[in-house]
Amino acid sequence: MTTPQSYTLPGGLKAHRCQPAIGAEVSGLDLTQPLSAAHAEDLRTALYAHGVIFLRGQQAIGFKEHLALAKAFGTPIEDGPDPERPQITPVAAKAFKREGTASSWHSDGNYSPEPPAVSILRALDPCTFGGDTCFSSATAAYAGLDDETKAQIEKLRYRSSLAERMPKGYGHFGSPEKWDELNAKYPPVTQPCVSVHPVTGGRGLYVNTTWSLGIVGMDDSEGLPLIQRLAAHFYRPEYQMRWTWEKGAIAIWDNRLVQHYGVPDQTTDRSLERITVHGGAVLSIADWEAREKDLAPA
Ligand SMILES: [Fe+2]
Repeated sequence: MTTPQSYTLPGGLKAHRCQPAIGAEVSGLDLTQPLSAAHAEDLRTALYAHGVIFLRGQQAIGFKEHLALAKAFGTPIEDGPDPERPQITPVAAKAFKREGTASSWHSDGNYSPEPPAVSILRALDPCTFGGDTCFSSATAAYAGLDDETKAQIEKLRYRSSLAERMPKGYGHFGSPEKWDELNAKYPPVTQPCVSVHPVTGGRGLYVNTTWSLGIVGMDDSEGLPLIQRLAAHFYRPEYQMRWTWEKGAIAIWDNRLVQHYGVPDQTTDRSLERITVHGGAVLSIADWEAREKDLAPA
């Protein structure tokens, strides 16, 4: 990519890239004002180019503006615990506690048949010392694979489950009944090892060890080490960046383009709110090629 570190987007917003492989801060936006079509397009352009983007200084906004921002990326998912604001998933953690920090590499909703496309996370009361969020580029991780591995995984799918990786009653599931409830709500699904982005057509590695059960059609003695080997590509620092939260900050990431990791070293309690938008089923290479064929002029 020859893009300079800082540049102006077509609609006038400024982008300042965080790392060569991933991330950009976008400035020039005041979300207390209605989001113009040109600025919404700038945000999508920057997101698809860099996988994750960040806004600062938006502490004056509330739920209404957060929701309006999310709508620039798709239709908000309504499955949160508050019936007044079902689009909101609270993201809260106590000082020095691991619970609620999402401290393993993952993309949101990987265990569901239609994982969210984009996550929009707003800091209400963030921790400014510790409690960073790390991001790693799925497109860089895929591009870094050798050709033999790319060919090996092109058609492979793996099984993913929210509950099945955990023994009943473990950790935040709390009880065997809660485990049963979650397993019924999210029965195991399969996902492609390589995803194709529905807008850009770019390929990304879509493998994690957080919810993966094994490769479809492969013995676990072979499949699980392969998943671990692939997931380990996300751990390379040259594919990563690290975001330190501050009041008024917003992170927006595309779950097909990056994975993230909540570092569980927050020195104070923290509170953030997340909205995600619908994304449809994750496209495999075969899905993408079939879709392109369907769309091709006769
Ligand atoms: Fe997450």
